[in-house]
Amino acid sequence: MPTATGIIAEIQAKVDLLAYVSQYVTLRKRGREYTGLCPFHAEKTPSFSLNAEKQVWHCYGCDAGGDLISFVKRYENVEFPDALRMLAARAGVALQESSDLRRRRSEREAIYEANAVAKAFFSDALSKSAEAQAYVARRGLAEATCERFGLGFAPDSWDGLTSALARAKVDLPTAARAGLISRRQNEEGYIDFFRRRLMFPIFNLTGEVIAFGGRALGDAEPKYLNTKNTPVFTKGQHVYGLAVARKAAAAQEALIVVEGYMDCLALHQAGFGNVVATSGTAFTPEQARELRRVANNVYLCFDGDAAGQAATTRNVDMLVEEGLHIEVVTLPGGRDPDDLVREGGPEAFATLLAASRSWTDFKIDAAIQRIERRFASKSDVARQAMAVIARVHDPIEKDQYIKAMARKLDVDEASLRSLRPALVATQNERNGGPQHRRAPAPPRRGLSFERELIQLILARPALLDEAMERVATEDFEDEELGRTYDVLHNARSTIAQGVSPVSVLSDAPNVADLTRLALSSPPLDAQEEAQRFERILERFDRRRMQRRLYHVDAEMNRLFTEGKSVPELLRDEYNSLSVTLRGAAPDKREGKH
Ligand code: UTP
Ligand code: MN
Repeated sequence: MPTATGIIAEIQAKVDLLAYVSQYVTLRKRGREYTGLCPFHAEKTPSFSLNAEKQVWHCYGCDAGGDLISFVKRYENVEFPDALRMLAARAGVALQESSDLRRRRSEREAIYEANAVAKAFFSDALSKSAEAQAYVARRGLAEATCERFGLGFAPDSWDGLTSALARAKVDLPTAARAGLISRRQNEEGYIDFFRRRLMFPIFNLTGEVIAFGGRALGDAEPKYLNTKNTPVFTKGQHVYGLAVARKAAAAQEALIVVEGYMDCLALHQAGFGNVVATSGTAFTPEQARELRRVANNVYLCFDGDAAGQAATTRNVDMLVEEGLHIEVVTLPGGRDPDDLVREGGPEAFATLLAASRSWTDFKIDAAIQRIERRFASKSDVARQAMAVIARVHDPIEKDQYIKAMARKLDVDEASLRSLRPALVATQNERNGGPQHRRAPAPPRRGLSFERELIQLILARPALLDEAMERVATEDFEDEELGRTYDVLHNARSTIAQGVSPVSVLSDAPNVADLTRLALSSPPLDAQEEAQRFERILERFDRRRMQRRLYHVDAEMNRLFTEGKSVPELLRDEYNSLSVTLRGAAPDKREGKH
């Protein structure tokens, strides 16, 4: 991607990996590295590691790793051009209209743009509509809250947005694919999808609008109309308000999850900055993973009605299985959090939060109720409880759960524990194995000097030129490392412009191994580094000589056995090689390896 080289170098110079990743992962400094919970797999003990100096990251748990761009690709689930565009926007680096990247601009971007135009149109319409203003006031939403969440209004019109999009030169078929407008039936042209609704933009973590939810002002059905699935939005995969709540949630290491858009806004307004909404009651593993990117402790706060409680019961197991620590907040019957803070103020909600139950207590209480209502027998409940337990990762939590369950059910702890695992197969096992099973650890290889050379180049790319003068790709015996060296070799000018070597290698099959290698390199001062480099190059030289010596030796032997004379040149070479290699007899084995 030659045209992108300068841009990549500029981005890498301007966007710091540590600062970037810290937005999404809570990192703690440990020695030379920063560690945190990996955003790419479920875990409770940190195995995500980042080295700020080297600008590389790696997860020892799931073996993902790479540089800034690979982090963005993976985290945002986007391809290279999108990752670059996101970073460029952040770094204030212009991606030129004419460049390759721009031409390959994806559908996603076009949709983000259409959504941005729509959001601007809706927010302008909100400021102009007396009806919408009155509704907002009646719902008790302050102007600051509306602004923070980018609220808007879709006017009661068939073509208000359609015309605005056309004026802004947005491609209308694209806007239709974005779910903003739809084709007229049996007629030319498009009509607005949202009409007379209070508009809630849904943002992704990088701040782009990916969809909208629209609340009817009157009693139109449905009450909330949401964007249909589009290339950038899949229902059930996003969490409303996460971009706004992220900072507060990371600081508090906890998220509060409610059901509704309005609940989310009301709680933010009441001072709870770490609230997000599921937008309905069906909670998916994708949403759980979104949450886990931000915080590990989750307060589930579903409506106090039967539907809300049923949703809590359904969701708890999955959330626990996804590695989240769950506290259940129970709202008084029939109320949602919005009602609650309107009636009782922030204190009312704070009191409920303080009275939250751990998920284990919640499950146990629910089980007891089932027994009391004779919906289940003790032994049914015990089996179900053990099925839940099989999904818990944390051994301490597991143990506490079993103890509490035994106590509450008044059964022997040992007999609970003795329930056969076959009867309590976990969801994962039924689905054919856990999705987050750790990748088998690659065999531990000692640090060969070939690896050492690659490691050193990754840490100090400036050494590449000199290395290339003295070591050829063919000098590598490890094929994979040889290919790595070859890639670096071919990218020498890119690297010379400041693109990090790990970036150049981001598509290599062994990129995880390489980032691990980069992370494990010791901090060296310039002199130590130069010495180490020299020592490694000498090892290469030495091995080359050994191979040559082996070759010369074989050739001399052949001539000798064929009764031919050995040329003086060959004999000289043999002698000089032997002397250089400390005059020792050639170690023929080493030449073969
Ligand atoms: P609720 O019916 O509890 O609405 O739905 P609410 O959030 O309390 O809204 P108000 O206070 O009546 O205005 C909870 C969430 O379920 C989704 C929305 O995300 C809503 O915020 N929902 C609800 C829909 O997507 N469509 C609907 O028709 C209803
Ligand atoms: Mn409500």
